[in-house]
Formats: sequence, C-alpha cells, structure tokens
Amino acid sequence: MYLTKEEERMLSGEYGEYVRKAMEVVVKVGEMLGAERLVEVVHAHVSGVSIFNIGEPGLHLIEEMAGAGTKFSVFTTVNPYAAVDAEFSGKRLSKDIINKQMRVVNALTRMGGKAFTCAPYHIRMPKKGEHLAWAESNAVLYANSVAGAMTLREGGPMALMEAIVGRAPLAGPHLPENRVPNYLVTLENVSNGASAAAAGYIMGKYLHSPDAVPYVVGLPRREEYVRLFLAAFGASGSSPMAVIEGITPDYMELLAKGNFQDKLAVGKDDIKQYVEEVVADADVGLIGCPHLSREEALRILERLGDGVKRELWVFTGAHVGADVIEALRKKGVRVLVSQCPVVTQLSLLGIESVITDSGKALHYLPKLAGVRAHLISRERILRWARGE
Ligand code: F3S
Repeated sequence: MYLTKEEERMLSGEYGEYVRKAMEVVVKVGEMLGAERLVEVVHAHVSGVSIFNIGEPGLHLIEEMAGAGTKFSVFTTVNPYAAVDAEFSGKRLSKDIINKQMRVVNALTRMGGKAFTCAPYHIRMPKKGEHLAWAESNAVLYANSVAGAMTLREGGPMALMEAIVGRAPLAGPHLPENRVPNYLVTLENVSNGASAAAAGYIMGKYLHSPDAVPYVVGLPRREEYVRLFLAAFGASGSSPMAVIEGITPDYMELLAKGNFQDKLAVGKDDIKQYVEEVVADADVGLIGCPHLSREEALRILERLGDGVKRELWVFTGAHVGADVIEALRKKGVRVLVSQCPVVTQLSLLGIESVITDSGKALHYLPKLAGVRAHLISRERILRWARGE
C-alpha cells in the first residue's frame, strides 16, 4: 500500500507507541480491503464503549492509551455508554459497573472524545463528499445516505485506531463506484416512525450483503422516519449505505448509473407483521434509539400534557439542550443523556418487557439487554405513558 511520508513516520513509531500500533492496524485492514492508499478523514466516530461489551480488558486498554498521552488527531465523537442513570423500581446498576463505565468515559474524554451520542451528525453535520471514519451502523448509514459523506461501516476498535491516526483505508463507500445502487426497493404505507423502522428492518433482512446498495422509493421525507428506517436497516443488514429518492444528494445521478440485480416491494402486510397496535405488556416505553434530535424531543414534550404516569425513558445526547432535558424531566420522563438502553443489561434492573418505536432496539434488546421488546408507534407509546 502506498503511504505518505507522514504516514510512514507514524508507522515507524516517531509519534509514539500507540500511534504506531494504530497505524499498523489501519494499514493491515486497508490491505485486506485491497485499498491502494489511505485517505485523511475529518471526523471519526468510535463505538463499542459500553462496559458490558468491552469488559475489564477494554477498560484497561483504553486507560492505558489515555495514560500514555494518546490523543485523537481529528474531531472525534463516541457512541453512548451503558445507562448508568437508569433506575427501575428502586433498582440501579451496581456501583462497580457504574464506576468502571465512567472510567471508560473519562479516558476517552482525555483522549479528545467530544460527545457521547449515536447521532454524531447532530454534533457536527458532515458535508457532502467529506471522508469520515465512523463506526455505529445508524450513523454510518446516515452519513453516506443522507449527508452524502463517505465512510466505511467501521467496527468500534477500527474507528478508535482511525481516530488516532486520522486516516481510513480508501475503500468501500470512499470510492464513488461503490455508491451505485444495485437493488430497487419500493416501500408502501410508511405512515409513522415504527412503520419506517419495520420497512428498514425487512429491507436489511432481505439485502443482507455488505455490498448491497438499495435505491429506496416511497420513504416520506421526514427526518425522524428516515433515521428510524436507516437504524433498523443497519441492525438487520450489513450495507453501509442506501440511496433514498428525494433525500440522498445526487440520487438522480446515482439512479441513472444503477445496476439493479433484484427488486423488493415492502407493503402494508409485511409491515403489519412487525408493528403491534396494542400494548400487551410493558415495564418501560423507550424512545430515542437512535438518539433524539432537539426537534423530536420538543415534539414529544408538546404531546406529554400534564405529564407521564408510566415509565417513559428517552435517550439522547447533550445536543438536545439543557432546557429541553429539564422540561422533559419535569413531566416525569427519565431522560438518559449520552447513554444507550441496548448496551445495558436491563434485566439486572428487573425489567422484563419494553415497548419502542425503534427497529434497532427491537432487534438487539432481547439479545443484549435481556428483555422482551415490542415495536409500537411513538404516538401510541406516548399515549400509554400518559396512562391512556
Ligand atoms: Fe444508539 Fe444504542 Fe440505539 S447506540 S442507535 S441508542 S442501540
């Protein structure tokens, strides 16, 4: 692989041991991907920082790196961590878990992590054509498909290395030829976020290939639906991008280049199989997977009336604003800032069942959090929370 003089210096250890190790990993992975060279990135996003996922070995590695003075060389955001502020029927995570989780957060902050959220585009919206090194599938799909930026679908450790060296392999969606749609997907009856999530989930199950780039027709141009759709697609599928009609920059040019191998139609009956109408059993209503934008949080606030009578948990980042967080809390909502329900063993809190409008949460909660999950519209979850 061709390396610049600067990259060779990083690889030789001139900038320290962890920069050398990080460059070694990035080059190795780049070679495996067949990249001819690396590309400079302007923003890295690191995932996989929950103590439940990385355990003691991960904690020690990150603390060691931070302790050696290793810094991120580009603007870097980090995924949310385990829900250290969660409480259910008086139960919380153990002090030991909370303490270890916050040590991970502190070490990443010392290295230069700017914010903990799975919606890094709310912290810094990528520009069209910009090269990024992002992990976290919903964010990757948003960057490539909505912002028109270019990033591989990185894993957490790889994005950590890329954040240190500020480079990524020039491969996958960094190259225009890999952004051409090869499946045609038509959606019908997407009328709310939960149905958008169900449609994305179905599409991901059908197109489960890292090279699949669907051209999507029929997704309403509403930010909330698009994000829930992409997050669910990322959970069941492994693509790094979709071309969405009316939303993806240059979608018409990409359509003209399209080379379609197959077609898929997602209709009312398909969606119905995933979205439930009635709340059968639920301990907690969960909204904010991916993390809510300020606008979404304000819309939720408007719909809460006198306040909530049941456990409504909302996940977001500090970008939502302290005023909104306070207003939601005054209505009785549990606002979990910079945290993620899915990477938290909610079963430890005695929670058994959750309702959510997120297809991604539906997919991962039973496996990772140990709870049952039901996909229900946000409107219905809010009515349930109000006691209706
Ligand atoms: Fe974000 Fe956690 Fe959902 S990282 S997208 S809240 S699974």
